Amino acid sequence: MSSWADRWRKDFPALASKGDRKAIYLDSACMSLTPREVLRAQEEYYTEFPGCGGRSVHRWSSEVTDRVETVREEAGRFFGAPPRQMINVRNTTEAINLVARGISWKRGDVVLVSNQEHNSNLVVWQELQRRTGLRLKILPLPEDAAFDVEEYQAVLEKGVRLVSFFHGSNLDGRLLPAREIVELAHDHGAQVLLDGSQAAPHHRLDLERSGPDYYALSLHKMLGPTGTGLLYGRTGSLETLRPLISGGETVAWTDYRTHQFLEIPERFEAGLQNYAGILGAGAALRYLAKVDFEELRLHETRLQARVDSGVRGLPLVRFGLEKPEDRGSVYNFVLSGIDAHDTALFLDAGYGVMVRSGMNCVHSWYRSHGYEGSVRASFYLYTTEQEVDQLVNGLREIVDRLGPNARVRVRGSSRPSRRAPAPSTRPSHGQTASSSPQGRPRSRGERSSR
Ligand SMILES: Cc1ncc(COP(=O)(O)O)c(C=O)c1O
Repeated sequence: MSSWADRWRKDFPALASKGDRKAIYLDSACMSLTPREVLRAQEEYYTEFPGCGGRSVHRWSSEVTDRVETVREEAGRFFGAPPRQMINVRNTTEAINLVARGISWKRGDVVLVSNQEHNSNLVVWQELQRRTGLRLKILPLPEDAAFDVEEYQAVLEKGVRLVSFFHGSNLDGRLLPAREIVELAHDHGAQVLLDGSQAAPHHRLDLERSGPDYYALSLHKMLGPTGTGLLYGRTGSLETLRPLISGGETVAWTDYRTHQFLEIPERFEAGLQNYAGILGAGAALRYLAKVDFEELRLHETRLQARVDSGVRGLPLVRFGLEKPEDRGSVYNFVLSGIDAHDTALFLDAGYGVMVRSGMNCVHSWYRSHGYEGSVRASFYLYTTEQEVDQLVNGLREIVDRLGPNARVRVRGSSRPSRRAPAPSTRPSHGQTASSSPQGRPRSRGERSSR
Protein backbone atom coordinates (compact mmCIF):
# COMPACT_ATOMS: atom_id res chain seq x y z
CA MET A 1 0.00 0.00 0.00
CA SER A 2 1.43 3.35 -0.95
CA SER A 3 1.14 6.07 1.60
CA TRP A 4 1.42 9.85 1.68
CA ALA A 5 4.50 9.25 3.84
CA ASP A 6 6.33 7.25 1.17
CA ARG A 7 7.34 10.34 -0.78
CA TRP A 8 9.39 11.56 2.19
CA ARG A 9 10.77 8.37 3.66
CA LYS A 10 13.54 7.82 1.14
CA ASP A 11 15.14 11.05 2.34
CA PHE A 12 15.62 9.77 5.89
CA PRO A 13 18.65 7.48 6.18
CA ALA A 14 17.71 6.37 9.71
CA LEU A 15 14.60 4.69 8.31
CA ALA A 16 16.57 2.40 6.01
CA SER A 17 16.58 -1.19 7.29
CA LYS A 18 19.73 -2.14 9.11
CA GLY A 19 20.16 -5.89 8.67
CA ASP A 20 16.92 -7.59 9.63
CA ARG A 21 16.19 -5.06 12.37
CA LYS A 22 13.33 -2.78 11.40
CA ALA A 23 13.27 0.82 12.56
CA ILE A 24 9.70 1.85 13.20
CA TYR A 25 10.19 5.21 14.84
CA LEU A 26 7.10 6.41 16.69
CA ASP A 27 8.84 8.89 18.97
CA SER A 28 8.89 12.03 16.85
CA ALA A 29 7.32 14.15 19.59
CA CYS A 30 10.57 13.64 21.48
CA MET A 31 12.70 14.43 18.45
CA SER A 32 12.19 13.99 14.74
CA LEU A 33 14.46 12.24 12.26
CA THR A 34 16.70 14.22 9.93
CA PRO A 35 16.65 14.12 6.13
CA ARG A 36 19.84 13.84 4.11
CA GLU A 37 19.84 17.57 3.26
CA VAL A 38 20.22 18.38 6.95
CA LEU A 39 23.12 15.99 7.35
CA ARG A 40 24.77 17.45 4.25
CA ALA A 41 24.42 21.04 5.44
CA GLN A 42 26.21 20.17 8.68
CA GLU A 43 28.96 18.30 6.91
CA GLU A 44 29.38 21.16 4.46
CA TYR A 45 30.06 23.52 7.34
CA TYR A 46 32.80 21.34 8.79
CA THR A 47 34.40 20.56 5.44
CA GLU A 48 34.04 23.85 3.51
CA PHE A 49 34.09 26.82 5.90
CA PRO A 50 34.59 25.69 9.50
CA GLY A 51 35.13 29.15 10.97
CA CYS A 52 33.67 31.01 13.95
CA GLY A 53 30.94 33.42 12.97
CA GLY A 54 30.85 37.08 13.87
CA ARG A 55 34.44 37.33 15.09
CA SER A 56 37.32 36.92 12.67
CA VAL A 57 37.46 38.68 9.31
CA HIS A 58 38.83 35.79 7.24
CA ARG A 59 36.77 34.16 4.52
CA TRP A 60 35.57 31.12 6.46
CA SER A 61 34.35 33.29 9.27
CA SER A 62 32.59 35.67 6.85
CA GLU A 63 30.99 32.74 5.09
CA VAL A 64 29.55 31.25 8.25
CA THR A 65 28.38 34.66 9.51
CA ASP A 66 26.52 35.28 6.25
CA ARG A 67 25.00 31.81 6.17
CA VAL A 68 23.79 31.97 9.76
CA GLU A 69 22.07 35.27 8.97
CA THR A 70 20.53 33.74 5.85
CA VAL A 71 19.06 30.95 7.99
CA ARG A 72 17.66 33.58 10.35
CA GLU A 73 15.95 35.23 7.38
CA GLU A 74 14.58 31.87 6.23
CA ALA A 75 13.31 31.18 9.74
CA GLY A 76 11.62 34.58 9.80
CA ARG A 77 9.84 33.80 6.52
CA PHE A 78 8.91 30.30 7.67
CA PHE A 79 7.42 31.41 10.97
CA GLY A 80 6.00 34.75 9.87
CA ALA A 81 8.28 36.92 11.98
CA PRO A 82 10.93 39.61 11.47
CA PRO A 83 14.22 37.68 11.29
CA ARG A 84 15.96 39.73 13.94
CA GLN A 85 13.22 38.89 16.40
CA MET A 86 14.30 35.23 16.18
CA ILE A 87 16.96 34.16 18.66
CA ASN A 88 18.99 31.00 18.25
CA VAL A 89 18.77 28.77 21.30
CA ARG A 90 19.48 25.11 22.03
CA ASN A 91 15.89 24.10 22.61
CA THR A 92 12.48 25.10 23.92
CA THR A 93 13.64 24.69 27.49
CA GLU A 94 16.34 27.30 27.02
CA ALA A 95 13.92 29.62 25.23
CA ILE A 96 11.43 29.46 28.12
CA ASN A 97 14.22 30.03 30.63
CA LEU A 98 15.44 33.01 28.64
CA VAL A 99 12.06 34.67 29.01
CA ALA A 100 11.39 33.54 32.58
CA ARG A 101 14.75 34.62 33.94
CA GLY A 102 14.92 37.69 31.72
CA ILE A 103 11.82 39.45 33.05
CA SER A 104 12.19 41.71 36.08
CA TRP A 105 9.59 40.20 38.40
CA LYS A 106 7.89 42.00 41.20
CA ARG A 107 6.71 40.17 44.33
CA GLY A 108 3.12 39.02 43.78
CA ASP A 109 3.27 38.97 39.95
CA VAL A 110 1.14 36.08 38.72
CA VAL A 111 2.23 33.56 36.08
CA LEU A 112 -0.52 31.32 34.73
CA VAL A 113 0.26 27.86 33.37
CA SER A 114 -2.06 24.95 32.56
CA ASN A 115 -2.19 21.68 34.48
CA GLN A 116 -0.59 19.87 31.53
CA GLU A 117 2.69 21.65 31.09
CA HIS A 118 5.94 19.91 30.26
CA ASN A 119 8.49 20.24 33.08
CA SER A 120 10.27 22.76 30.86
CA ASN A 121 7.35 25.12 31.37
CA LEU A 122 6.85 24.41 35.06
CA VAL A 123 10.11 23.93 36.93
CA VAL A 124 11.53 27.32 36.05
CA TRP A 125 8.39 29.04 37.39
CA GLN A 126 8.54 27.02 40.60
CA GLU A 127 12.17 28.06 41.00
CA LEU A 128 11.35 31.71 40.42
CA GLN A 129 8.41 31.51 42.77
CA ARG A 130 10.85 30.63 45.54
CA ARG A 131 13.37 33.28 44.58
CA THR A 132 11.37 36.28 43.41
CA GLY A 133 8.02 35.88 45.08
CA LEU A 134 6.04 35.57 41.86
CA ARG A 135 2.88 33.50 42.22
CA LEU A 136 2.23 30.51 40.02
CA LYS A 137 -1.37 29.70 39.19
CA ILE A 138 -2.50 26.49 37.51
CA LEU A 139 -5.43 26.44 35.09
CA PRO A 140 -7.03 22.98 34.88
CA LEU A 141 -7.87 22.03 31.30
CA PRO A 142 -11.15 20.28 30.55
CA GLU A 143 -11.07 16.56 29.75
CA ASP A 144 -13.70 16.72 27.03
CA ALA A 145 -12.61 19.84 25.14
CA ALA A 146 -9.34 21.49 24.23
CA PHE A 147 -9.86 24.63 26.30
CA ASP A 148 -12.39 26.44 28.46
CA VAL A 149 -12.31 30.12 27.57
CA GLU A 150 -14.61 31.16 30.40
CA GLU A 151 -12.45 29.59 33.10
CA TYR A 152 -9.41 31.23 31.55
CA GLN A 153 -11.07 34.61 31.44
CA ALA A 154 -12.13 34.30 35.08
CA VAL A 155 -8.49 33.79 36.12
CA LEU A 156 -7.29 36.65 33.92
CA GLU A 157 -9.75 38.96 35.60
CA LYS A 158 -8.05 38.40 38.94
CA GLY A 159 -4.78 39.73 37.52
CA VAL A 160 -2.06 37.86 35.62
CA ARG A 161 1.28 39.23 34.42
CA LEU A 162 2.25 36.37 32.11
CA VAL A 163 0.34 33.47 30.60
CA SER A 164 2.69 30.61 29.73
CA PHE A 165 0.88 27.74 28.00
CA PHE A 166 1.86 24.98 25.65
CA HIS A 167 0.41 25.50 22.17
CA GLY A 168 0.29 21.79 21.30
CA SER A 169 0.39 19.16 24.06
CA ASN A 170 3.01 16.42 24.26
CA LEU A 171 0.66 14.57 26.60
CA ASP A 172 -2.48 14.24 24.52
CA GLY A 173 -1.83 16.18 21.32
CA ARG A 174 -4.48 18.83 21.95
CA LEU A 175 -3.98 22.22 20.36
CA LEU A 176 -4.87 25.30 22.38
CA PRO A 177 -6.56 28.26 20.62
CA ALA A 178 -3.48 30.50 20.48
CA ARG A 179 -5.09 33.56 18.94
CA GLU A 180 -7.96 33.63 21.46
CA ILE A 181 -5.61 33.05 24.39
CA VAL A 182 -3.38 35.92 23.28
CA GLU A 183 -6.22 38.35 22.59
CA LEU A 184 -7.86 37.77 25.94
CA ALA A 185 -4.55 38.01 27.79
CA HIS A 186 -3.72 41.29 26.07
CA ASP A 187 -7.19 42.64 26.84
CA HIS A 188 -6.40 41.98 30.50
CA GLY A 189 -2.91 43.49 30.37
CA ALA A 190 -1.06 40.15 30.47
CA GLN A 191 1.75 38.98 28.20
CA VAL A 192 1.79 35.53 26.57
CA LEU A 193 4.59 33.01 26.15
CA LEU A 194 3.67 29.95 24.09
CA ASP A 195 5.61 26.71 24.24
CA GLY A 196 5.36 25.77 20.59
CA SER A 197 7.59 22.72 20.63
CA GLN A 198 4.74 20.36 19.72
CA ALA A 199 2.68 22.72 17.55
CA ALA A 200 5.38 24.20 15.32
CA PRO A 201 6.31 20.86 13.67
CA HIS A 202 2.69 20.27 12.59
CA HIS A 203 1.12 23.66 11.93
CA ARG A 204 2.01 26.62 9.75
CA LEU A 205 2.60 29.54 12.05
CA ASP A 206 2.26 33.21 11.43
CA LEU A 207 3.74 34.55 14.63
CA GLU A 208 3.34 38.26 14.03
CA ARG A 209 -0.33 37.79 13.19
CA SER A 210 -1.21 35.33 15.93
CA GLY A 211 0.39 37.74 18.33
CA PRO A 212 2.11 36.01 21.28
CA ASP A 213 4.75 38.08 23.00
CA TYR A 214 7.10 35.09 22.99
CA TYR A 215 7.09 31.77 21.16
CA ALA A 216 9.51 28.95 22.00
CA LEU A 217 10.24 26.03 19.71
CA SER A 218 12.70 23.19 19.14
CA LEU A 219 14.03 22.67 15.63
CA HIS A 220 15.10 19.11 16.50
CA LYS A 221 11.40 18.30 16.51
CA MET A 222 11.17 19.80 13.01
CA LEU A 223 13.76 17.65 11.20
CA GLY A 224 16.66 19.78 12.42
CA PRO A 225 19.83 18.66 14.23
CA THR A 226 19.73 17.98 17.97
CA GLY A 227 20.16 20.97 20.23
CA THR A 228 18.66 23.58 17.91
CA GLY A 229 15.74 25.85 18.62
CA LEU A 230 14.38 29.37 18.39
CA LEU A 231 12.82 31.96 20.61
CA TYR A 232 10.61 34.50 18.88
CA GLY A 233 9.91 37.70 20.73
CA ARG A 234 7.64 40.53 19.74
CA THR A 235 9.19 43.96 19.21
CA GLY A 236 8.97 45.77 22.50
CA SER A 237 8.94 42.53 24.53
CA LEU A 238 12.43 41.22 23.80
CA GLU A 239 13.89 44.62 24.61
CA THR A 240 12.74 44.29 28.20
CA LEU A 241 14.53 40.98 28.84
CA ARG A 242 17.87 40.62 30.60
CA PRO A 243 20.12 38.15 28.75
CA LEU A 244 20.10 34.67 30.25
CA ILE A 245 23.82 34.20 29.61
CA SER A 246 26.23 37.04 29.01
CA GLY A 247 29.79 37.21 27.77
CA GLY A 248 31.57 36.96 24.43
CA GLU A 249 29.54 37.90 21.34
CA THR A 250 26.89 39.70 23.36
CA VAL A 251 28.63 43.05 23.80
CA ALA A 252 29.80 45.93 21.62
CA TRP A 253 32.57 46.86 24.08
CA THR A 254 33.72 46.42 27.63
CA ASP A 255 36.02 48.31 29.97
CA TYR A 256 37.09 47.19 33.44
CA ARG A 257 33.99 48.66 34.94
CA THR A 258 31.13 47.96 32.57
CA HIS A 259 30.01 46.92 29.08
CA GLN A 260 27.60 47.81 26.30
CA PHE A 261 25.27 45.04 25.10
CA LEU A 262 24.80 44.53 21.37
CA GLU A 263 21.41 44.88 19.74
CA ILE A 264 18.84 42.08 19.56
CA PRO A 265 19.30 39.22 18.72
CA GLU A 266 23.09 39.18 19.29
CA ARG A 267 22.86 40.21 22.92
CA PHE A 268 21.03 36.96 23.63
CA GLU A 269 23.36 34.64 21.71
CA ALA A 270 26.36 34.28 23.99
CA GLY A 271 29.57 32.46 23.12
CA LEU A 272 30.46 30.46 20.05
CA GLN A 273 27.27 29.22 18.45
CA ASN A 274 26.20 25.82 17.10
CA TYR A 275 26.92 26.85 13.48
CA ALA A 276 26.64 23.36 12.02
CA GLY A 277 23.35 22.90 13.87
CA ILE A 278 21.94 26.24 12.76
CA LEU A 279 22.85 25.56 9.13
CA GLY A 280 21.35 22.08 9.42
CA ALA A 281 18.22 23.63 10.89
CA GLY A 282 18.05 25.97 7.89
CA ALA A 283 18.09 22.93 5.61
CA ALA A 284 15.32 21.39 7.73
CA LEU A 285 13.12 24.46 7.28
CA ARG A 286 13.76 24.43 3.51
CA TYR A 287 12.72 20.77 3.50
CA LEU A 288 9.58 21.46 5.54
CA ALA A 289 8.68 24.31 3.20
CA LYS A 290 7.95 21.59 0.60
CA VAL A 291 5.38 19.95 2.88
CA ASP A 292 1.72 20.91 2.68
CA PHE A 293 0.84 21.14 6.39
CA GLU A 294 -2.84 20.61 5.69
CA GLU A 295 -1.95 17.27 4.06
CA LEU A 296 0.29 16.50 7.04
CA ARG A 297 -2.60 17.11 9.42
CA LEU A 298 -4.91 14.85 7.39
CA HIS A 299 -2.21 12.18 7.30
CA GLU A 300 -1.78 12.27 11.07
CA THR A 301 -5.53 12.16 11.57
CA ARG A 302 -5.71 9.05 9.37
CA LEU A 303 -3.02 7.40 11.49
CA GLN A 304 -4.88 8.30 14.68
CA ALA A 305 -8.10 6.79 13.32
CA ARG A 306 -6.26 3.68 12.22
CA VAL A 307 -4.83 3.05 15.68
CA ASP A 308 -8.25 3.73 17.22
CA SER A 309 -9.86 1.03 15.12
CA GLY A 310 -6.88 -1.32 15.48
CA VAL A 311 -6.95 -1.30 19.29
CA ARG A 312 -10.71 -1.65 19.53
CA GLY A 313 -11.53 -4.32 22.11
CA LEU A 314 -8.17 -4.08 23.87
CA PRO A 315 -8.09 -3.09 27.56
CA LEU A 316 -6.56 0.26 26.75
CA VAL A 317 -7.07 3.68 28.27
CA ARG A 318 -6.23 6.44 25.83
CA PHE A 319 -5.40 9.95 26.98
CA GLY A 320 -6.79 12.66 24.79
CA LEU A 321 -9.88 13.91 23.11
CA GLU A 322 -12.35 11.66 21.37
CA LYS A 323 -11.94 12.81 17.77
CA PRO A 324 -8.75 11.64 16.00
CA GLU A 325 -8.23 15.13 14.54
CA ASP A 326 -8.11 16.61 18.05
CA ARG A 327 -5.12 14.54 19.11
CA GLY A 328 -2.55 15.86 16.65
CA SER A 329 0.27 13.42 16.23
CA VAL A 330 0.24 11.96 19.75
CA TYR A 331 -1.30 8.61 20.68
CA ASN A 332 -0.83 8.25 24.42
CA PHE A 333 -2.26 5.32 26.37
CA VAL A 334 -1.94 2.71 29.08
CA LEU A 335 -2.56 -0.98 28.58
CA SER A 336 -4.53 -2.09 31.58
CA GLY A 337 -2.32 -3.59 34.25
CA ILE A 338 0.79 -3.61 32.09
CA ASP A 339 3.79 -1.48 32.91
CA ALA A 340 4.46 1.22 30.31
CA HIS A 341 8.20 0.52 30.07
CA ASP A 342 7.58 -3.20 29.69
CA THR A 343 5.17 -2.41 26.88
CA ALA A 344 7.75 -0.17 25.20
CA LEU A 345 10.55 -2.73 25.55
CA PHE A 346 8.28 -5.44 24.18
CA LEU A 347 7.29 -3.34 21.17
CA ASP A 348 10.91 -2.55 20.36
CA ALA A 349 12.29 -6.04 20.85
CA GLY A 350 9.41 -7.87 19.25
CA TYR A 351 8.15 -5.51 16.56
CA GLY A 352 10.90 -2.96 15.99
CA VAL A 353 8.53 -0.25 17.20
CA MET A 354 10.14 2.58 19.20
CA VAL A 355 7.79 4.54 21.45
CA ARG A 356 8.15 6.74 24.51
CA SER A 357 7.15 5.42 27.93
CA GLY A 358 6.97 6.93 31.40
CA MET A 359 5.59 10.30 32.44
CA ASN A 360 6.60 12.21 29.32
CA CYS A 361 8.11 15.00 31.44
CA VAL A 362 4.64 15.91 32.70
CA HIS A 363 5.05 14.31 36.14
CA SER A 364 2.74 16.87 37.70
CA TRP A 365 -0.20 15.68 35.61
CA TYR A 366 0.51 11.95 36.01
CA ARG A 367 0.99 12.24 39.75
CA SER A 368 -2.17 14.29 40.22
CA HIS A 369 -4.17 11.77 38.16
CA GLY A 370 -2.66 8.72 39.83
CA TYR A 371 -0.94 7.23 36.78
CA GLU A 372 2.53 5.71 37.05
CA GLY A 373 3.21 6.33 33.39
CA SER A 374 1.95 5.65 29.90
CA VAL A 375 3.05 4.65 26.43
CA ARG A 376 3.21 7.41 23.85
CA ALA A 377 3.40 6.80 20.12
CA SER A 378 3.93 9.92 18.04
CA PHE A 379 3.85 10.37 14.30
CA TYR A 380 5.32 12.64 11.67
CA LEU A 381 5.38 13.01 7.92
CA TYR A 382 7.37 9.78 7.42
CA THR A 383 5.11 7.55 9.54
CA THR A 384 3.16 4.98 7.51
CA GLU A 385 -0.06 3.07 8.02
CA GLN A 386 1.93 -0.18 8.05
CA GLU A 387 4.04 1.15 10.89
CA VAL A 388 1.06 1.97 13.09
CA ASP A 389 -0.33 -1.49 12.21
CA GLN A 390 2.82 -2.97 13.71
CA LEU A 391 2.21 -0.97 16.86
CA VAL A 392 -1.30 -2.41 17.03
CA ASN A 393 -0.05 -5.96 16.34
CA GLY A 394 2.48 -5.62 19.15
CA LEU A 395 -0.16 -4.39 21.58
CA ARG A 396 -2.50 -7.23 20.64
CA GLU A 397 0.23 -9.77 21.27
CA ILE A 398 1.03 -8.31 24.68
CA VAL A 399 -2.60 -8.45 25.72
CA ASP A 400 -3.01 -11.98 24.31
CA ARG A 401 -0.13 -13.15 26.39
CA LEU A 402 -1.25 -11.47 29.58
CA GLY A 403 -4.96 -12.16 29.40
CA PRO A 404 -7.94 -9.87 29.61
CA ASN A 405 -8.15 -9.42 33.39
CA ALA A 406 -5.76 -6.53 33.62
CA ARG A 407 -6.72 -3.14 35.03
CA VAL A 408 -4.94 0.19 34.90
CA ARG A 409 -2.54 0.64 37.78
CA VAL A 410 -3.42 3.78 39.69
CA ARG A 411 -2.61 5.40 42.99
CA GLY A 412 -5.41 7.95 43.31
CA SER A 413 -9.03 7.22 44.08
CA SER A 414 -10.64 8.86 41.05
CA ARG A 415 -9.70 6.03 38.66
CA PRO A 416 -10.33 2.28 38.54
CA SER A 417 -7.97 0.78 41.05
CA ARG A 418 -8.03 -3.01 40.78
CA ARG A 419 -4.44 -4.04 40.39
CA ALA A 420 -3.47 -6.89 38.17
CA PRO A 421 -0.51 -9.00 39.28
CA ALA A 422 2.64 -7.57 37.74
CA PRO A 423 3.10 -9.24 34.39
CA SER A 424 6.43 -10.62 33.28
CA THR A 425 6.37 -9.44 29.71
CA ARG A 426 8.21 -11.62 27.26
CA PRO A 427 8.90 -10.15 23.86
CA SER A 428 8.29 -12.55 21.04
CA HIS A 429 11.68 -12.24 19.40
CA GLY A 430 15.01 -11.70 21.04
CA GLN A 431 15.52 -10.18 24.44
CA THR A 432 13.35 -10.45 27.52
CA ALA A 433 12.12 -7.29 29.20
CA SER A 434 13.37 -7.98 32.71
CA SER A 435 10.90 -6.69 35.25
CA SER A 436 11.38 -5.47 38.75
CA PRO A 437 8.86 -6.71 41.36
CA GLN A 438 6.64 -3.76 40.40
CA GLY A 439 6.75 -4.73 36.77
CA ARG A 440 9.34 -2.09 35.97
CA PRO A 441 12.36 -2.86 33.83
CA ARG A 442 15.49 -2.91 35.98
CA SER A 443 17.68 -1.70 33.19
CA ARG A 444 15.93 1.65 33.20
CA GLY A 445 15.33 1.88 36.95
CA GLU A 446 16.26 5.49 37.48
CA ARG A 447 14.79 6.66 34.23
CA SER A 448 11.56 4.84 34.80
CA SER A 449 9.27 7.81 35.17
CA ARG A 450 10.79 10.39 32.85
C1 LIG B 1 5.40 20.49 25.19
C2 LIG B 1 6.89 20.45 25.36
N1 LIG B 1 7.51 21.50 25.91
C3 LIG B 1 8.84 21.53 26.06
C4 LIG B 1 9.63 20.47 25.66
C5 LIG B 1 11.10 20.55 25.84
O1 LIG B 1 11.70 20.56 24.59
P1 LIG B 1 13.29 20.54 24.51
O2 LIG B 1 13.71 19.28 25.20
O3 LIG B 1 13.57 20.54 23.07
O4 LIG B 1 13.77 21.73 25.23
C6 LIG B 1 9.03 19.36 25.09
C7 LIG B 1 9.82 18.20 24.68
O5 LIG B 1 9.36 17.17 24.34
C8 LIG B 1 7.62 19.34 24.93
O6 LIG B 1 7.00 18.32 24.38
